[in-house]
Parts: sequence; structure tokens; C-alpha cells
Amino acid sequence: MTPASAGRGEEATVSERKKLTLPDLFARVVAGTPITWLTCYDYPTACLQDQAGVDMILVGDSLGMTMLGFDSTLPVTMDDMIRHTAAVRRGAPNAWVVGDMPYMSYQPSVETAIRNAGRFMAETGCDAVKLEGGAEMADRVAAIARSGIPVIGHLGLTPQSASALGGFRLQGRGAAQARKIVDDARALEEAGAFCILLELVPDRVCRLVTERAKHAIIMGLGSGPHAHGQLLIFHDAFALYPKFKPRMAKVFADAGAVIRDGLAAYVAEVTGRAFPRPENWFGMADEEYDELVRLLDRGGGDDR
Ligand code: KIV
Repeated sequence: MTPASAGRGEEATVSERKKLTLPDLFARVVAGTPITWLTCYDYPTACLQDQAGVDMILVGDSLGMTMLGFDSTLPVTMDDMIRHTAAVRRGAPNAWVVGDMPYMSYQPSVETAIRNAGRFMAETGCDAVKLEGGAEMADRVAAIARSGIPVIGHLGLTPQSASALGGFRLQGRGAAQARKIVDDARALEEAGAFCILLELVPDRVCRLVTERAKHAIIMGLGSGPHAHGQLLIFHDAFALYPKFKPRMAKVFADAGAVIRDGLAAYVAEVTGRAFPRPENWFGMADEEYDELVRLLDRGGGDDR
């Protein structure tokens, strides 16, 4: 509710479900119930996702593209991530909120990785962090996990390395590259990752990793139905990203069209003087108005 709407006495709906815990997520896997995961970057959308019962929320560094209009995730800073993750946490107190470690917040050294993972936990109240990379990042994953911070690995299409990977494209198409993904997943799990995201790998590679996982939760993004759960970029799933629409992303509702239609109506109603109507403004009692006019008349004009 904005200060302007507060005068109307309307109450926002807040999520009333119980706070999700790590044991709850593992229980989902045991029960065979797929886990739901969406990206989110702001308070109002976080409120909606928590109300809808989304299990996990990723405050992804994809916000550099979806919210800030960059062509990649690379310009995103730790301060950007802290600001957005804290906002999402305030809107979604009951979902499992994951902070995404931005470019160069963990690559330089193990110590950098621990310090920045710690910042996420202390300054945003998130539940876990995610970082990109395979066996070469196992020491970072192990150190973060040893610090008591739940950590998620990210394999397949890792956007921070898009240049080295040849762009935003399917990974693990050939047997040798797929073998590396399977081996990397094992290395991350052994290092202590409680969850691994596979982005844009063939469905059969995702199934192999899921079947071979000893305890890690395997989540998929554009990687088929065999993972323990699914992640989608919110802006893809709700038609809010104007630059492109990835093939694997289903549009669950065309929020972009709804907002565009609403904006056209706003422009038409203001220019056509159909808005505002009396219910959209506040009046003043006659005696107060008369007194105001009297005061102004007596004051003899503008005394600013
Ligand atoms: O930043 C992000 O949203 C991500 C997804 C692409 C998995 O890392």
C-alpha cells in the first residue's frame, strides 16, 4: 500500500504459510513432489510469489538484464544484489530465498567467496547463496558450506561465462562435454553443495545427474522433467522481458500485455479527462475552505 492509497484503508494480503526450511525441501524430494523455484528481484513481486506458494526464490544476477537493461549479468555488483535480495526477503518471509553471487564476488579467492556469502546472509537475511562453476569452484563451495551457509552450485549454461561458452546456448550436447557436467555435479556435491542447478542441458544429462545425486537436490532450468524441481526466470514466464523470449520458457500469463493495456487506458483517460473521478481525490469542508479564502484575502497576497 502506498501512502496515497493508505487513506482508503485497504489492507495488503500477506503470505500466511509457514516458513519453508531446508528439511522441508529435502522432504519434498523424498515425497517425489517437484520443487518450484522462480527468480524475483523486488518487494511487490516477492509478496505475490510468497502468497502463491512458490517454494524457492532466486534473486538472480539476471537482474542486470531483466531489471537494469544490461546485455549481460557482468556489470551487477554485490551492493546491487544486497539491495534487491533484502527487498525480496521483506516481501517473501516464508519462501526459501537464495542470493546469487555476482561476477567476481567469489572467483578471485576462497576468502572473497566466504566474505561475500557472509554479507548476503547477514545483510539480507536470505537462506542460501548460489554460485556458478564446476570442480574449479569446489574449494569455494566447500569453504562457504563449512561456514554454515547453505550453498547451491550452477552448471550447464552459466551466464557469467557466456562469452567462453559461445553465448546463451545448450550445454552438454556432446558426450565429452556432458561427462564433464556429470563429473562437475559430483564434485560440487562432494564439496558440500546441498543443491545443484542445471541450466540448459539436454534432458537425458539432467536425468543422469539427478539419478546419480547422493543427497543433493537437483533443479533444472530448460533441462527437462527429470530434476527434483524447476526454475524459471520470472520475466520469461510472465512476458516481461522485451529483448527476447527463450524457447524453453513457457509464458504462464502475459503480464506485459496486461500492463501495456492498462498504460494505454491511463493515457487515454487522463488526456480525455475521464480520470480522476471524485472517488480518486480528497475534498475539503466548506467552512475550512471559506476560512482559507478569508485568510488569503486578509493576508493581501503571496507572502512567500
Ligand atoms: O541470475 C539468474 O537468474 C540465474 C539463472 C539464469 C539461473 O543465475
